[in-house]
Amino acid sequence: MTQLKHYDVLIIGSGAAGLSLALQLPKHFRCAVLSKGNLASGSTFWAQGGMAAVLHDRDSVDAHVNDTLIAGAGLCHEPAVRFTVSHSREIVDWLIEQGVDFDLRPDQPDDEFREFHLTMEGGHSHRRIIHSADHTGRAIAEVLTARAREAGNIDLLTERCAVDLIREDNRCIGAWVLNTSNNEVTAMAARAVVMATGGASKAYQYTSNPDGASGDGIAIAWRAGCRVANLEFNQFHPTCLYHPEAKSFLITEALRGEGAVLTLPDGDRFMPRFHERGELAPRDVVARAIDHEMKRLGLECVYLDISHRDENFIRGHFPTVYERCLSLGIDITRERIPVVPAAHYTCGGVVVDQHGASDLHGLYVIGETACSGLHGANRMASNSLLECFVYATSAALHIASSCPPPPDKPLPQWDDSLVRSSDENVVIKHNWRALRGLMWDYVGIVRTDRRLQYARGTVDLMQDEINDFYRRFVITRPLLELRNLGQVASLMIDCALSRKESRGLHFNSDHPDTRHLATDTILVPPNSPLGDSDDAALLYLPSYNDADS
Ligand code: FAD
Ligand code: SIN
Repeated sequence: MTQLKHYDVLIIGSGAAGLSLALQLPKHFRCAVLSKGNLASGSTFWAQGGMAAVLHDRDSVDAHVNDTLIAGAGLCHEPAVRFTVSHSREIVDWLIEQGVDFDLRPDQPDDEFREFHLTMEGGHSHRRIIHSADHTGRAIAEVLTARAREAGNIDLLTERCAVDLIREDNRCIGAWVLNTSNNEVTAMAARAVVMATGGASKAYQYTSNPDGASGDGIAIAWRAGCRVANLEFNQFHPTCLYHPEAKSFLITEALRGEGAVLTLPDGDRFMPRFHERGELAPRDVVARAIDHEMKRLGLECVYLDISHRDENFIRGHFPTVYERCLSLGIDITRERIPVVPAAHYTCGGVVVDQHGASDLHGLYVIGETACSGLHGANRMASNSLLECFVYATSAALHIASSCPPPPDKPLPQWDDSLVRSSDENVVIKHNWRALRGLMWDYVGIVRTDRRLQYARGTVDLMQDEINDFYRRFVITRPLLELRNLGQVASLMIDCALSRKESRGLHFNSDHPDTRHLATDTILVPPNSPLGDSDDAALLYLPSYNDADS
């Protein structure tokens, strides 16, 4: 495939957000979708539980909105929540049209109108998670990738790592992109650029996320002048497999939805002591309860037990979890699963409106990279795939109707005349490990002012070293990812330090109470196009118009 230098739309990221946006652009828009690894290298491929949607007669948009607001601990923006939830049925229809197979209820005869099988997850008051067994992300990613390959207007470019955006005045006109297969950096210009690079959970030592979740889009947009918000809200999934050979393997919350219980080594079921909904309490509550019990008793892990359910039911609903655990010698139809919490989802991100438009003209940010106001202080399970599709659809429509003309200036050249190849890559490896360990220990599930201050000082020193390395040496993907992780960790710490309360996922034992008034933490970069105007303090800019939805 020939890589063009000018596209109508440059989409950075090939997950649920990036691919679905590409597929919804008008066919006369020439677009490129970049992935820094293969096309399935993002979190989307690994999503297990499914996607929340209002599909059952007894469910309602109001109930889904209400559950999301409760999980978000007072910080969700209700218009964003309502906008997202009210489009859920259309998104399901669109995915089915593309060819995604969702599971149907097994208990109805074939000739009858078949209903979808819906699962239950934490925080939801109804069964509303539509899924493909326990590999929903894979089912969606494979279908969307196939449709994108068939489309004549989409170039799928793998092994391309975006370095930074190219900004002209207050407009984004393209991006610098490193081709990691030949180490060349080129400028790619576009009428609109979409950042869909996923989250930043790799900032933590233990995570459910794949390796590329290094917060690139958040760091890149920040450097280009976009505001970021609510980055103190890092979601820890309560149940990742605890096993020396299992890296980042999630045990889906849907197991708890189907009756799995959490126990201590002696079999004691502890969750009912922490919340009336027991194992199906919102995720922040469950993760904190596990952390509390592990610290109190000095445990390496706790246990998740579904072995009381029928063996065929377990194998049929959870084939991925069953197979993976069995490959490690754990038969989940008979035994408990050792689990620990791990960093899972970045609730904050780049500030956007309902079209996914950022502060920079021509730059859209969607999916996990964005802060749309949907998740507030704690994302409700299975709302993130939904957000990816709803905002991708809305951004595609907006781009189609208001895409600016191509930039008229010639593209700049990448200047690497002053750098040389590094013979000290140990610096990258060391800082990568040190940074993630520091974030786990000092900016983790429970925080204190002292630990956050300590993290602040250490990350400042690390960033000096990383930036010095970036200036001196030829860039590589690991260096770019470390530079971005350092930047995002720094922003997370700033957000955490400025919140003098505990709310949702942010728990600081020096400020255990929740304030009456919920406010967003908004960080404004020095080169923000908003300057120091009053608008910079608002998650939604005044130009944002609910009527557009
Ligand atoms: P991703 O799918 O993460 O894709 C990011 C893309 O950006 C990748 O293609 C990557 O290569 C590319 N990229 C990143 N940086 C660069 C760069 N610098 N240059 C070029 N390309 C770049 N959510 C749910 O709603 N339901 C679930 O059941 C569910 N289960 C989950 C299970 C697991 C194990 C995990 C990790 C997450 C789960 N989530 C779930 C969360 C959800 O999967 C993600 O939030 C969502 O898929 C993010 O999609 P995305 O398109 O924003 O990014
Ligand atoms: C899971 O299947 O437990 C993950 C769901 C999610 O993160 O939304």
